[in-house]
Amino acid sequence: MKYPRLLSTGANNKVIALTEDTVAKLFTGDTRSDIGSEAEKMKYANNLNGLVCKFFRLDYDDNLQAEMLVMERIYPIDYRAYETEKRELWLAVFLDEMHQLHQAGFVHRDIRRPSDITGQPFDNILLTNNGIRLIDVGISALLSQVGEKLFKKYVETELKELEEFEKYFISR
Ligand SMILES: Nc1ncnc2c1ncn2[C@@H]1O[C@H](COP(=O)(O)OP(=O)(O)O)[C@@H](O)[C@H]1O
Ligand SMILES: [Mg+2]
Repeated sequence: MKYPRLLSTGANNKVIALTEDTVAKLFTGDTRSDIGSEAEKMKYANNLNGLVCKFFRLDYDDNLQAEMLVMERIYPIDYRAYETEKRELWLAVFLDEMHQLHQAGFVHRDIRRPSDITGQPFDNILLTNNGIRLIDVGISALLSQVGEKLFKKYVETELKELEEFEKYFISR
């Protein structure tokens, strides 16, 4: 099936443009991921700070026969558009916000795409004219759901991936 206004296809889902300010992540019959849980995790992060893209609503498109997670539309730009000094400032803000999410019991878990999956390694991290934003909380975890032990392990892994991202973001 060809989707009109398709923006991009991620590891699991297609994302289409709805308006100038909104996009919809499509969950069709063959998607394994759970739209309700993704929406809840997004709202949780939205309540903590502005890093994760804003959740708007859940909807259903009869023509596409797809459940839709409607959210803020982000317009990513290439890192190379900005001087490394500016990137360093944005990076510092980004890392602060990530730590804030961790402290409050949210871990993203999909900062870096596993190397056996093709595609850009950090395509869930988007640079905008106002700094770095995060999308795709599909496999994110909340401390309240997974418990101390798993949560701590996830955060450790994420901190390593963030170190890799730092290098990539500045040297690109
Ligand atoms: N809020 C958004 N604004 C603009 N583009 C988006 C947005 N959310 C996702 N995308 C685009 O769609 C792609 C797939 O979305 P994503 O949530 O990462 O799905 P997947 O779980 O399949 O990886 C992203 O890599 C990105 O290019
Ligand atoms: Mg993704």
